[in-house]
Amino acid sequence: MNVLTELQQRFRLALDGLTEDPDSLLEMVRPAQETKFGDYQANCAMPLGKQLGRSPREVAEQIIQQLDVSDFCSEPEIAGPGFINLRLRDDWLVQQLTEAQHDPRLGIAEVSPSRCIVIDYSSPNVAKPMHVGHIRSTVIGDAISSIARFLGHRVISDNHLGDWGTQFGMIIYGFKHFRQEDAYQAAPVPELTRLYKQVQQLIEYHQSRQQLPQLEQQVQELEAQRDQQQQELEATDPVDKKAARRLRQLEGRITDQRSAVVAASARIATIDEDPELSSLAAKHADIADQVLEETAKLHAGDEENCRLWEEFLPRCREDIQRIYDRLNIEFDVEYGESFYHDRLPAVVAGLETSGLARESEGATCVFLDEFETPMIVRKRDGAFLYATTDLATIQYRMETWQPDAILYVVDHRQSEHFQKLFSVARQWQNPDVEFSHVSFGTVLGEDGRPFKTRSGQSVGLESLLNEALQKALDVVTSNDESKPHGAELSPEQRQQVAETVGHGAIKYADLSHNRTSDYVFSYEKMMGLEGNTATYIQYSYARVRSIFRRGEVDLEGLRASFAGISIEHPAERALAMAVLQLSEVLESVLEDYRPNQLTNYLFELAKRFSSFFEACPVLKAETEALMQSRLLLCDLTARTIKKGLQLLGIGVVEMM
Ligand code: ARG
Repeated sequence: MNVLTELQQRFRLALDGLTEDPDSLLEMVRPAQETKFGDYQANCAMPLGKQLGRSPREVAEQIIQQLDVSDFCSEPEIAGPGFINLRLRDDWLVQQLTEAQHDPRLGIAEVSPSRCIVIDYSSPNVAKPMHVGHIRSTVIGDAISSIARFLGHRVISDNHLGDWGTQFGMIIYGFKHFRQEDAYQAAPVPELTRLYKQVQQLIEYHQSRQQLPQLEQQVQELEAQRDQQQQELEATDPVDKKAARRLRQLEGRITDQRSAVVAASARIATIDEDPELSSLAAKHADIADQVLEETAKLHAGDEENCRLWEEFLPRCREDIQRIYDRLNIEFDVEYGESFYHDRLPAVVAGLETSGLARESEGATCVFLDEFETPMIVRKRDGAFLYATTDLATIQYRMETWQPDAILYVVDHRQSEHFQKLFSVARQWQNPDVEFSHVSFGTVLGEDGRPFKTRSGQSVGLESLLNEALQKALDVVTSNDESKPHGAELSPEQRQQVAETVGHGAIKYADLSHNRTSDYVFSYEKMMGLEGNTATYIQYSYARVRSIFRRGEVDLEGLRASFAGISIEHPAERALAMAVLQLSEVLESVLEDYRPNQLTNYLFELAKRFSSFFEACPVLKAETEALMQSRLLLCDLTARTIKKGLQLLGIGVVEMM
């Protein structure tokens, strides 16, 4: 049972007659920070006392008089100015543990009412190499899906592939002009990737040449501005703090702008210094327009471009599938952008007839009060946009599944797009649904800048996984070799363990950071045997399993037996409490879609197991009954860890 929810329900009853609006007060019933005083704490008497103009202690007294929790808590206590401390009854804990012991779901009930949730995640742009950023969407989306499903919600996971955008115009153009037939025949995807990069390089070259003078001028202007502000600042006494801050911001902009100049110059130089490339660039001076043209032809049903698209798509898709297979990722549906193509004209027409969209400089736009720039739904040349497709997608999802929520697990740089999208969708058809942009930060390298290879390319996912595997193998091997009674694993076993450890480490590192923050990608940290890592938690699991092996315990018999768990030692109680909190944690993950609540929980559980293991002998327990009890607690811990990791898409190993 979810103790927190239950407690909140009981408090709701107890607050009856004291307040009209119990909801904000109920949020103040929480797990205790300091378990010395109890397991849960309610801090609502203080604000309520203020509201009622009464002493908080007196209000707390009244609350606990009206509060009926005696079936699972001991007598509530009041501390300090009016904190209400709650402690679960040990006999009740034992009863819950016994239920969990006999239940494949560990005593975790499905929630009611259940919701229908569409989760849009991973969604890479096909034909562009997948990079480290895509892993975050994939891993976070997959974890949220699994957790929601486990709690009994109806989930539709949808990989909204970018299979229809300009990147296809790019490879079609590249294919027509720069293809090396032999290479394409031998290995199509690497050749398509090369073509994509080649076209991108040429487009960027021409763009950079066009923009460089302007960029340089901007730097000069900013510098002039800075000089003036500096003089003004020096002339004021005392120092104007706001002006000083503005000056620092300006310095920041100058630095950014200078790096833009450096980057553009570098792009130009790479081509200018290479005779072959520069003659290519000269020959394809209008490449950017040509690419748009190829894309437009594809969308208009041009025979050759459609044939090429049909040829490329499955190959690019296979390339992505390899990654999904390695990471064990599956989707319920994969309706890429192309799936919605036929619906786009009707979307624009619908927006026009409802008076939301209007023509502006030849394009069709929806203007929104909250934003400076409009949402463009059709360009001047007739092309539809990313946003148009997203509107069609919402329509389709509402018609098909009538979901209660649609979640988009997409990086934070698209937040304006989603704000506009949700606003337009609401104004247009006002669907009865929760929209949520589950956004996330950037993956950084150890230098604190977006994670890149040494040559400045974004890191391909496949090489990243390979490297993780190699590092995991090193960790597993050295751990195995340093075992006091000699190594235990065969080379094949080491390889298998390394796979679970390596992939687990990458996923966990991603999930354990607050999703809205950026995080630094570091193999060393993510595979540490100490600290908040998958490796540490997998290690705790393996430790429990080794106890069972050493004790030659008949697990099935033990689980089925009616030998109960007794909790006497504080370390046993702390561990038992943690085991029983999984359901509460899972529900809180779904409140704001933060899987790091589950990783934090697993870390805490593993730490408590470690303290328990130090304080409470298991196989050498004083009595047979105590040994049984502790073995059962170990088993519940292992099952809880396994379940928690599994919901994050991470496996466990028996030995490591
Ligand atoms: N393909 C997009 C990208 O890689 C992400 C799509 C997210 N989903 C959506 N419905 N817009 O940037």
